[in-house]
Amino acid sequence: MQPDDITALFDRQAAYYDTYWTKTAAIRDALNLLTSALLMSLPNDAHILCVGVGTGDELLHLARQHAGWRFTAVEPSGAMLAVCRDKAEQAGVTSRCEFYQSYLNEQPSIPQHDAATCFLVSQFILEGAERVQFFRDIAARLKPKGLLVSADLSAQVTSPEFEVLLRSWMVMTSGETTKEGLARMRSTYTNDVGVLPPNEVSALIRAGGFDSPIPFFQAGLIHGWLASRVSAQ
Ligand SMILES: C[S@@+](CC[C@H](N)C(=O)[O-])C[C@H]1O[C@@H](n2cnc3c(N)ncnc32)[C@H](O)[C@@H]1O
Repeated sequence: MQPDDITALFDRQAAYYDTYWTKTAAIRDALNLLTSALLMSLPNDAHILCVGVGTGDELLHLARQHAGWRFTAVEPSGAMLAVCRDKAEQAGVTSRCEFYQSYLNEQPSIPQHDAATCFLVSQFILEGAERVQFFRDIAARLKPKGLLVSADLSAQVTSPEFEVLLRSWMVMTSGETTKEGLARMRSTYTNDVGVLPPNEVSALIRAGGFDSPIPFFQAGLIHGWLASRVSAQ
């Protein structure tokens, strides 16, 4: 998808994004639980970069658990970021957050962060070299050995397994079970979203300046990887 299309899409979705995804809250809870455990060795004053923070779920989860952690929230959709800000305000964590309404590559690459989260973002970059550059942009904003927790929709879309996962995904997310609905979702995930097999996503992360990503999570179509920035960039 083109940057303007992404921003427009999420500006439209912002008002109902959280409500829509409550149906899959158990998956998100599991992803958050594992993320917390994976980041447990970070210092009490860690800086976390939340790329494509959307309405802020991952940021708020970590901010509530770690009173000393500070957050950089980067999000191009003004409407999504406004929801995130409101929720941060309600949670009393705004003073520990910096909010940037922009794409990641528009922000200065100061390697000050101990870790980054990037949930369901890189999948919107369809071109391989651009997706690698996106991961490079994250690496450039991390300290050497800084950690990346990344999650994306991932599958071999030409496989019979994908049909099974797609159907269950559609039931979970939209409750719809019609042939037309399934065809629509298949077309979106095949043409408009970069749903790639797990080994290919892993290779993109690695090419972006990280060591071998550890696949730590799968629930339906969502996969998660932990990687650390290689020292030399
Ligand atoms: C599916 S939402 C996920 C939001 C949140 N991370 C979550 O898991 O709920 C994807 C978000 O990534 C943002 N996004 C897309 N491309 C981006 C980029 N290159 N840099 C930063 N954010 C981006 C979109 O605007 C959108 O809010």
